[in-house]
Amino acid sequence: MDSIRWFATTIYTDPVFPMTSPSIAPRPTASPDTASRASTARKAAFWDRVARKYAADPITDMAGYEATLRRAQALLAPDDEVLEIGCGTGTTALRLAPFTRRMLATDVSASMITIAREKLAARPVPQLRFEVADADAPVSGLVAGDAVLAFNLLHLVSDLDQTLAAAVQSLRPGGLLISKTPCIAEMNPLVPRLALPLMRAIGKAPHVLVFDGNALQAAIVRQGLEILAVERHGTRGKDIRVFIVARKPA
Ligand SMILES: C[S@@+](CC[C@H](N)C(=O)[O-])C[C@H]1O[C@@H](n2cnc3c(N)ncnc32)[C@H](O)[C@@H]1O
Repeated sequence: MDSIRWFATTIYTDPVFPMTSPSIAPRPTASPDTASRASTARKAAFWDRVARKYAADPITDMAGYEATLRRAQALLAPDDEVLEIGCGTGTTALRLAPFTRRMLATDVSASMITIAREKLAARPVPQLRFEVADADAPVSGLVAGDAVLAFNLLHLVSDLDQTLAAAVQSLRPGGLLISKTPCIAEMNPLVPRLALPLMRAIGKAPHVLVFDGNALQAAIVRQGLEILAVERHGTRGKDIRVFIVARKPA
């Protein structure tokens, strides 16, 4: 399957690029707080609209997903305090929280968090709590985390450096950032140059940052983290999702 066709299939079936309708952006005002709230509301509105479909969509590469879960689980310890940012409907948090002391899983979308809480109520995990929060903003005082998880998120934030800085702020010295991120720059160039802008223009794709695995690693290193591992877990053709483990210096 060529990249464009693969991408077209992906956006219909893969939760990373859910189909949606155009968002109506609130007008920012002069106050930075209000502007920041408006920006958060704009991002949330997009994901709020697609949350139920996202929850219903199957994971396209289950073997790759399970490999990532195993790898992440092996990096966590039973005493760990863990923060997950951009947790979506909580599938990963529900799987990993039992292997931690406490996990706070956050998402900018209240609808995603509602679904995550429904799943948690149906299958309680005492260590796990879900909250609405914007990963682009500093996570003040939530946890001094042993690990921050960011799965299928870092290509979606407004400012990669700002989000990574906030994640680093949430980590204790020696704590781990564990991420898995689609690298759009590794797709056929027509995707970021043509298909994505068109889809965004008609409201069928979210805002995405276009970077490759090397640029993502460089951004992580810019925040003072040491890269421990760079892996690809996909089992279906070319894998554009890079799995990175990075440590905050002790
Ligand atoms: C592609 S989904 C990934 C969800 C989950 N991590 C997974 O791997 O299935 C992206 C999620 O990131 C959330 N998101 C997007 N921008 C965000 C931000 N700035 N802060 C927090 N969450 C954000 C969306 O609401 C959505 O739930």
